[in-house]
Formats: sequence, structure tokens, C-alpha cells
Amino acid sequence: MTRIADLPTPCVLISRRVLESNLQAMAERCQRLGVRLRPHIKTHNLPEIAQRQLHAGAGGVTVATPQEAALAARHGVRDIFVAREVVDRVDLYALLDVARSVHLITAVDSVDGAEALAAVAAAREMPMAVRLEVDTGGRRCGVATLEALTALARRVLALPALRLEGIFTHEGHVYGAADHQDLIRQATAAVQALGAMGAGLRAAGVPCGEVSVGSSPSAKTATDFRGVTEVRPGNYVFNDGMQVANGTARLEDCALTVIATVISRPAPDRAVLNVGSKLLGSDRGKNASDTGGYGLLIEPERQVLTRLYEEHGVIDAANGLRVGQRVRLLPTHACIVANLARTVALVDDQGGVIEVWSNRRYA
Ligand SMILES: Cc1ncc(COP(=O)(O)O)c(C=O)c1O
Repeated sequence: MTRIADLPTPCVLISRRVLESNLQAMAERCQRLGVRLRPHIKTHNLPEIAQRQLHAGAGGVTVATPQEAALAARHGVRDIFVAREVVDRVDLYALLDVARSVHLITAVDSVDGAEALAAVAAAREMPMAVRLEVDTGGRRCGVATLEALTALARRVLALPALRLEGIFTHEGHVYGAADHQDLIRQATAAVQALGAMGAGLRAAGVPCGEVSVGSSPSAKTATDFRGVTEVRPGNYVFNDGMQVANGTARLEDCALTVIATVISRPAPDRAVLNVGSKLLGSDRGKNASDTGGYGLLIEPERQVLTRLYEEHGVIDAANGLRVGQRVRLLPTHACIVANLARTVALVDDQGGVIEVWSNRRYA
């Protein structure tokens, strides 16, 4: 068996034990809450993990792009929600190609978007399921008022090529909460707001089956899921520095770590690693999720990666590191690392590599 010690650095490791425990914990929480779990697999884009999520009880997956949908469909996923608006004609046809073989749902937040989708769906005689996006505070996509939502829903209902399945939101603004208590408050408020939108739509005579919320911190902490049918956490499979900073995960709940090598000790207080933004990205989080750096050294001891270059990572208050030493890092944002890495190694607790998975984006 290959050993972690034999892998070239920087390399990305996924602890099988922690991954499986995270999958189990979220599946059990959703079961307790009485909501369907439809994990966002852009976190990893690895069919190997998607299959484990489905096995653990997920009822379908979420993706962000037609390409991710095609990848999931190629690997046997049969129920896919593309939770980002698709309006370009080329992308729309790519979506329809995927929809030939799976139950595919797409996101709509405008009349223009609905009409663009309806036009290609009608041309191919393939009715498409849609969910309308609601802005519950993130100020990204989505309609923000019940009036606007009802008006959009009525326009969608008038398009025979579209089937209105429900509504969804991504309450990602909770990452910017001031502290953990504020995060719980904001998460609960966003989830309640979407539940209320669903009820409001139905009261206006518009059918609204699915009410879907999605973010890892809110899935873990919101205290009221009434009126919600589905949650779409993504990051929870790995967890990362942001989730530790905002109090929704402990260090030992983090499945994805990076092994790097100390390549320079140019000053007593400075150590430089052979990993930079080309693998770690450059997220630091914000407010409650702010990690204070671009990654956290967790072995041999906690130290913060304070500066990043493309292929260098600098620790400006270094302690006890020597040139040539291998260290282990917790990334600030694991989804970015999984996206940028060409391969990731599934590892056991004894230093062994169980399997190496390829990032299909680079296939
Ligand atoms: C639409 C949508 N749903 C769900 C998620 C999952 O959220 P998280 O990364 O907090 O797990 C995201 C993340 O960006 C998203 O954009």
C-alpha cells in the first residue's frame, strides 16, 4: 500500500473516517428534521463521494453548472438540481442533453430566463422542471419579495414547456455573521423566510411543492425548518477553516487537509511552504468565518499561513519548523482546494493511501 509519506507534496488528503462520519451525521440530522438531503456536490465534484452521499440517504444532488450536471449524470446520478440560473443558449442545450437521461431541475429567477429555457425546451419537446430562486438576504440571485415571486411564478405557470416544482434559496450570507450566535439567528431567519415564501405562494393559489434551503452552517444550526422540504449543504462533507472559525465544526471534523513541505526558513520568524494560491485559493472567510489566514498549520502545531503567492505560502510567526519538514494544513475553503487539485488521496488513520481519485475537470 502506498504511504502518505511517499506522495509528492503538496498533496490533498481526505480522511475516510472523518468523511464517512460527516456524511452520516448530516444524513441523520436531515432524517431527524424530516427534510430531504440534496447535497451540493460542487464541493468535491467526485463521483466517488457523490455515490457515498446517495448511499447515506441523499435523495439526489445539487450542482452549479451544466458541466457538473453532465459529470454527475455520466456517473449514474439520476436526480440533479442545477441551482444556478442557466440562460445562455449553448448551456441550455447542454442542460437538455443531460435531461434526456435524468430528472433534471433548473433554477429560474427572471422572466427572461424562464422564457429562454422554455424556448429550447419547447423546441426539443422536453418539458423542464424549474425552481424559482428567492433572495433571503445573500443579495446574489433571486427575487426578494413575495409579490415578485408570485408574479414570476404566474409567468412560469403560463409557459407550457416549464413545470414549476418549487422554490429555493442559498443563504450564504450566514458566513458573514458577526459570531456563532448571530449565525444561528441569521440561519434560522433565512430558513423561516423561505418557508414563509412557500406558504405565501400557496396562499396566492400557486402550487409550490419543494421548498429548498442550502448552506452547511444553516443546515447544521438553524432551529426551525417548518415549511422546508429539502436542504442542500455542500461543504459539510469536508468542513474547513471557515466552518471551524464560525463554530459549526471542530478541527477533528475536518476531512480534507493538505500536506506541504517547508522549503525555506529565511528569517527566525518566517517559514515558507511549497503551496500557494494555485492549490489553496485565496479565501480567508469573513467575520464569524474569518480564519485569520489562508490556511492553518495543524501539524506539527497550530500556526497561521499569513501570506500566499501562487506557489509559496508564508508563515510570518513561525515556530520550530525546519527546511525539508512535511507539515499538515487545514485549508480555509476546502471546496476550492478540491476543485483545484488534480488528484486527492483517500487515506486511513495509519498513514496509508486507500485510493487516489482524479479530478474529472482535468480529465
Ligand atoms: C445554490 C447553493 N446551494 C447550496 C450551497 C452549499 O453551501 P455550503 O457551501 O455552505 O455547503 C451553495 C454554496 O455555494 C450554493 O451556491
